[in-house]
Amino acid sequence: MRKPYPVAVAGDGPYIIDKEGKRYLDAASGAGVSSLGYSDAAVSAAIARQAKELAYVYNAYFTTEPAEQLAQALVEMTPKGLDWVFFGSGGSESMDGALKMALQFHIDNGQPSRRTFISRRQSYHGCALGGLAVSGNVIRRMLFEDVLMQVEFVSPCYAYREMESQETADQYVARLAQELEDTILRLGPHTVAAFIAEPVVGATNGAVPALPGYFKAIKAVLDRYGILFIADEILTGSGRTGTYLSIEQDEVTPDLVTLAKGLGAGYQPISAILVSDRVFNVIADRRGYFIHGHTYNASATPCAAALAVITQIRERDLLARVQQQGMKLRGALQDRLSQHPHVGDIRGRGLLIGLELVRERESKQTFDAQAMVWAQVQQQAMARGLICYPMGGTADGMNGDHILLAPPFIIDDVHIAEIVDTLAVSIDAAVANAAA
Ligand SMILES: Cc1ncc(COP(=O)(O)O)c(C=O)c1O
Repeated sequence: MRKPYPVAVAGDGPYIIDKEGKRYLDAASGAGVSSLGYSDAAVSAAIARQAKELAYVYNAYFTTEPAEQLAQALVEMTPKGLDWVFFGSGGSESMDGALKMALQFHIDNGQPSRRTFISRRQSYHGCALGGLAVSGNVIRRMLFEDVLMQVEFVSPCYAYREMESQETADQYVARLAQELEDTILRLGPHTVAAFIAEPVVGATNGAVPALPGYFKAIKAVLDRYGILFIADEILTGSGRTGTYLSIEQDEVTPDLVTLAKGLGAGYQPISAILVSDRVFNVIADRRGYFIHGHTYNASATPCAAALAVITQIRERDLLARVQQQGMKLRGALQDRLSQHPHVGDIRGRGLLIGLELVRERESKQTFDAQAMVWAQVQQQAMARGLICYPMGGTADGMNGDHILLAPPFIIDDVHIAEIVDTLAVSIDAAVANAAA
């Protein structure tokens, strides 16, 4: 509330241009949103066409061709078994919808005692009360803690800080699966509705993918006790990690998946819940409707925009491009910063990459939280015309700093070089300021 903002007036590929004519290379796609950059002509044309023909109909009375075609495209692009789609307008909205769908599923399935959710520390699932309640993010919960529904939290898969030095990766994964199972048994399996996780932890932890085998082990525990798995792919989905869903790379199929951000790629606000046959069939057979709905569900213009986005991803083979440019960006960051005294870890998947900053590499000691090094990096980068997405609280919710990078899928090699150069200089300037 207390600072002025530059006025953005135009977009040009991965750049945003402000009123003064300054160009910003957006290495964060806003907040992991603008995967096609800011000037995709095909998407804007599709929006204009739809707005002219029929901008909106109420989904309780009608469906539309863009909504049906988009649902079909999503079913084709995602693993077998995720065959149904419920559209909304934003990430938090889809998360609250998925939580309610899990609760209704269990009631309609004859198990009404399943009312508890299990989530993970250091996670973010939305700012509405449902999504916030299942978020481990300490700072975002802080003022609202007393009114949030009771949720159980287990450890994230955060090898950089939480894997013991004498532990192998397999042992660490087994320990986390055991922790989940112990939690379920303590609560009583008949009381647990669903487990919620981001396949790659985004804003709270700075692009932390799970270790190989983690989600398989977790899913096996959940299946043993009839508990649903909700994958929050609001940030990681829609191609951001090089497959349409990130969880495909973990080789499990969730019961519900939430999508938002890259689905409309910033051209329109739209989100989706991908629903498995298992969940859909129970609700459809027993009750016939989901007791939940928003005025703008499956709105025609956002669906037309998202259909144009997914068409671009398919026709231009952008998933392969994400894999290729993601590897190049990560490689360039490694070359430049892997020995930097204040970069403790470089990690991620596809074009979702995180750098964890530390005061001291060896001990992994964090900077003083008061110094807000993450905010300094953001300021220094902005001043130099680079947008990144830094955040604090990385290590334990209060301490630690990371920088999240999630550039548009269309970035070229020159953009990669620009990101790495500007970021390196900005980190040095931020650390120097913090030390001063
Ligand atoms: C993983 C995840 N879940 C949920 C949300 C909330 O989405 P929205 O901001 O669109 O409400 C976000 C947004 O940052 C997110 O990254």
